[in-house]
Amino acid sequence: MTSGHVFIAASLDGYIAREDGAIDWLERFGETGEDHGYARFISGMDAIVMGRGTWETARHFEPWPYALPVLVLSQRLAGSPVPAGLEGRVRFSDASPAGAMALLAAEGHARAYVDGGQLITAFLRAGLIAGMTVTLVPLLLGSGRRLFGALPADLALRHEETRTFGSGLVQLRYRVGPEP
Ligand SMILES: NC(=O)c1ccc[n+]([C@@H]2O[C@H](COP(=O)([O-])OP(=O)(O)OC[C@H]3O[C@@H](n4cnc5c(N)ncnc54)[C@H](OP(=O)(O)O)[C@@H]3O)[C@@H](O)[C@H]2O)c1
Repeated sequence: MTSGHVFIAASLDGYIAREDGAIDWLERFGETGEDHGYARFISGMDAIVMGRGTWETARHFEPWPYALPVLVLSQRLAGSPVPAGLEGRVRFSDASPAGAMALLAAEGHARAYVDGGQLITAFLRAGLIAGMTVTLVPLLLGSGRRLFGALPADLALRHEETRTFGSGLVQLRYRVGPEP
């Protein structure tokens, strides 16, 4: 099965976007010149799985930023055509998390970047996330879209690394699961 990997930024109070999906509060941290490790992370992935909410933001990125094949999981979008220019690079699917990973595995993809708060939570529930890098932004948003949602039971994490940046970002890297 393909393994899932998370690389995401959250406000200190655990939000990845405002209620309306806006990520304007994140943008200035991309302009600091700091290397937050995204290029290194993405170089270790061979596919991307994102939720419809994340797609709704990503679809407006110009130019399209992803060199890897993108699988957008959505009941609503499944069966509809992808926008012009993204054919062959983006697919819509109503697969379950396990179904999506089985599909990617059958295609030879070993490691998938899983993006979107609801989707990450669904993949965690299904035991499909192997590692998570969460970058905490020094900001309280007070409300918005949460990174993590409800889980059926506690989920132990193994801390691997903490990095701090002059901008105030604090990046935490975990393996998912208890000590072997
Ligand atoms: N801070 C960051 O680094 C960062 C990173 C990524 C995204 N974002 C932002 O976060 C927002 C999106 O996150 P989000 O949590 O709202 O949405 P999301 O997880 O990206 O997408 C949720 C949607 O995915 C679909 N879906 C398909 N399978 C699912 C499953 N098994 N479980 C749950 N949903 C499933 C559902 O749409 P259907 O009803 O169509 O099935 C659901 O509404 C956007 O505003 C984006 O810009 C921020």
